[in-house]
Parts: sequence; C-alpha cells; structure tokens
Amino acid sequence: MLEPTSDLAPKLAIPADKPFLRVLSGSREKVPPVWMMRQAGRYLPEYRALRERAGSFLELCFNPELAAEATLQPIRRFGFNAAILFSDILVIPHALGQRVRYVEGEGPRLKPLNDAAALNSVHREADRSTLAPIFDTVRRVKALLPSDVALIGFCGAPWTVATYMVAGCGTPDQAAAKHLAALEPFAFGRLIDKLVDASAKYLVHQLEAGAECVQIFDTWAGGLPAREFDLWCIQPTKRLVDRVRERHPGAKIIGFPRGAGGKIPDYVDRTGVNAVSLETAIDLKFAAENIQSRVPVQGNLDPEILRVGGEALDRAVDSVMAAFAGAPFIFNLGHGVLPQTPIAHVERMLARVRGS
Ligand code: CP3
Repeated sequence: MLEPTSDLAPKLAIPADKPFLRVLSGSREKVPPVWMMRQAGRYLPEYRALRERAGSFLELCFNPELAAEATLQPIRRFGFNAAILFSDILVIPHALGQRVRYVEGEGPRLKPLNDAAALNSVHREADRSTLAPIFDTVRRVKALLPSDVALIGFCGAPWTVATYMVAGCGTPDQAAAKHLAALEPFAFGRLIDKLVDASAKYLVHQLEAGAECVQIFDTWAGGLPAREFDLWCIQPTKRLVDRVRERHPGAKIIGFPRGAGGKIPDYVDRTGVNAVSLETAIDLKFAAENIQSRVPVQGNLDPEILRVGGEALDRAVDSVMAAFAGAPFIFNLGHGVLPQTPIAHVERMLARVRGS
C-alpha cells in the first residue's frame, strides 16, 4: 500500500502478485514479464474491426466501452503481463483547446503554433469533460483485467507533445519545435509548463482510476543537443515526476527518452523515474552496465525483426534476453509494433521469451 501525502489523496493499492509490478519494485524474474508498445493496434484483425465500428480514431479513444475493449484485446489473444490504456498522447493538446484530428494513413493534424502569440493561446487547464471518458476506460479495464496482469497508464512527455503542437503534425527532425524553442524560449517554456501541469493531473487521475504504473513517452528526446535535452527533456520530466509523487509518493513511473543513448544515466538520476524503456538502437552492453545498474529496464526488440520473424527473430530475442538476464527486466519492443506484423511472429516471440 502506498502512503499518500495527505488524507485527501485516495490510497493506491499495489498487489504483489503481478510479475510486471514485481520487476518495477526491483525483482529479477526468471521469466521476464512481457508486453509490447502499441500492442492494441492495426496488426490485430479484432482491432481493425473495432476501429471501423468506432468511426474515427479519436472517437475510439473517447468511447470508454470500445477503448476498454481495445485495451483488453491483446491481453485475451496473447496473455501479455501488462495492459496499456488505449488512448493517445495527443488527447492532452486536444483538451488544452488545440483540436486534433487523425488523417487516415498519414497521422495527426493540429493547427500549428507558429509564434509566441500562438504559444500563449494554449489554454492553461485541460478541459475536464474531454478527458473524463479516459478515466472511465481505466476503471472499466481494471475491473475486467485478470488478477496477474498490470494496468499501465501513460502520457506524452512535454517535449514530444510540444513537437506535434508546434508543427501541427509529426516531423522527422522536430525542426519547427526546435526553431521556435530557440527563437521564443520564454513563450515555449510557458507551453512546456502548461504541459507539465496538465500531464501531471492527467497521470494522477489515471492512477486514481486504477492504473498501477504510468509511462512517459518522449519519442523525440533523441534529437535534442545536450543543453536542450536538459531544458526540454530532463527538467520538465523531473517536474512531472515530482508532481505525480507529491500526490502519490510510491507511484511507479517508466520513462521512455527514445534515442537519448548516453544521456540516459543522467536522465535516470535527475528525473527520478523508476524504470526506463530502451529503444532498439541502444548498445546492449552499455545499457546493462550503465542503465540497468540503476533501475529496471524494459525493451528493446527491434519491431522490424518482429515483422520479419523466423530465425532472425529467435536470435534477436535471445540476445535481448541474454543482455538483460542479470537484473530486473521487462521484455518489450524498442518502439511500437508495426501494423504489418504477422500474429504468428508475436506468438513465436512470446514462446521464445517464456521458454514454452
Ligand atoms: O497499444 C498501445 O500502446 C496503447 C495506445 C497508444 C497509442 N498511441 C495508440 C495509437 C499509445 C501508448 C500511443 C502513444 C503515442 N502516440 C506516441 C508515443 C509512442 C510512439 O509510438 O512513439 C506518439 C508519438 C503518438 C502520436 C501518434 N498517434 C501518431 C504519430 C499516430 C499516427 C501514426 C500511426 O501509427 O497511425 C498516432 C495514431 C495511433 N495511436 C494509432 C494507435 C493504435 C493508430 C490509429 C489508427 O487506428 O488508425
């Protein structure tokens, strides 16, 4: 049981019978718990059918009944050790008044923030009624989840969410956000502050609705030079972690500073995350010696190899397992599962990890 900071904070119960949560508490499991980033998604025929029923992707995210079903689909099919809430990192800008839509086959579209005035126009508080259905999804999933499966909530890290808000879409190099952050550091910093605040409240609500751990996705952390990595990744993430822990001191938080490589040990020491999700390209020896020696790690099978399958997949699974066998470890991918991935390859990966 976690001790809340005040009597007003609801208590969070963390059961010990979930291998995923045991690893986050520092236990090394003989068979590592396993889940996949983007495990609810288009590679599953049952997801594609559900998505058609919902209409748009955002309608699916904001429909608690259907979003709970999407969350549970990969658990039913594969028996993963953790379920991740079905939603998206861009529901936060949406709730802050910057409307988001998803264009089929292309990705998210928002009205770009081109200057200081546009940055300042973002609301200070997320609209409660917009996000309310998501907490309802968490409660529904929690009630239906097998007792040994953990429930993960999440948000995007302030920097990654800001890259989409500034450019109005995904960008390979985050040039628009880097440019505006350098040109208008104070206005950009205020946007980051709003994202820290909204994301902290959002994660606290997910934990109180039943999430047992939360992951902070900083997909675009790797593109930042040292000074900007400190300013826009480490410092805001630390504030976010602190804000969540003010309310729930024992909250389990996984960071995913994708592509940050050699900067990750410093990220761990300074943000205070409980665990780190590792991307595919990181050096395994470096990660075991310098990151897993600090906190439990999660990762990092290449999603492309999962798509290829066969003996190449077996070899890649074995090398990830061997690299991280000596200390607390959760088996996962280095990034989201690709839509073209055959189901049989996921089954083969699971059998290999579990020795079954
Ligand atoms: O299964 C899960 O992992 C839970 C749900 C989840 C989604 N997105 C569902 C989704 C999670 C945790 C995310 C995180 C997310 N969303 C990130 C960070 C992790 C990463 O992948 O780097 C980012 C950058 C986003 C933003 C986003 N959402 C983009 C760029 C896109 C378009 C690209 C794409 O894959 O279509 C999305 C859409 C999205 N988010 C889909 C899903 C299942 C596909 C939507 C569809 O059904 O068409």
